[in-house]
Amino acid sequence: MRIDVVTLFPDFIRESAALGVVGRAQERGLLAVHGWNPRGYATDNYRRVDQRPFGGGPGMLMLAEPLGACLAAARAADPAPARVIYLSPQGERLTQAKVRQLAAEPRLILLCGRYEGLDERFIDREVDEELSIGDYVLSGGELAAAVLVDAVGRLQEGALNHADSATQDSFEDGLLDCPHYTRSEATGTEGVPPVLLSGDHAAIARWRRQQSLGRTWLRRPDLLARARLDKADRALLAE
Ligand code: ADE
Repeated sequence: MRIDVVTLFPDFIRESAALGVVGRAQERGLLAVHGWNPRGYATDNYRRVDQRPFGGGPGMLMLAEPLGACLAAARAADPAPARVIYLSPQGERLTQAKVRQLAAEPRLILLCGRYEGLDERFIDREVDEELSIGDYVLSGGELAAAVLVDAVGRLQEGALNHADSATQDSFEDGLLDCPHYTRSEATGTEGVPPVLLSGDHAAIARWRRQQSLGRTWLRRPDLLARARLDKADRALLAE
């Protein structure tokens, strides 16, 4: 998969995408992340990339021409058709289901806004989808783009070391993850639920499912209302 990120801070995207699981996915050739700076496509002497909005008011918008030229260059860098995503607080809220869908695309182009955002006509013309990472305002789309690159990158086939670790993630079944415990020199097995030490795999699976359900019930009842639960789940919740 290829992801091109159009941003005034391409180094941030390159550096964050070089770390951890996503960095390893790039090393393994499963993912390629490229940064593109609209400033390099500005035509005036000052390399301006912002402009005042019609109607006045505070704040500036990103200038459409350098952004358009930069996006065109990013599109042309690879023959595969790209889905163009604009990160903004006005977008549809990103979910794990959306991440899965995007992870199956051959190519994404992410547009990061700065200032007050982009000209609406540019969005109408060029953008396939507008996505938000949450109901709060960041000073630019870069952190949101880095979130999306990470979430999509780690789902590329072969990116994670244990093949099943992605399917057991929080949200994959619409529920929060169960708690985890690790061996430690200092604490040994102290405070570890005894079932996890029992070696009884069926009992452990049942306990984990019940913890997932219980945590989701306590912390995110909105998720529980939408999750598809079977009879066994309902029985575990009722216990
Ligand atoms: N840009 C600024 N705030 C954002 C948010 N919450 N999600 C995505 N992009 C953004």
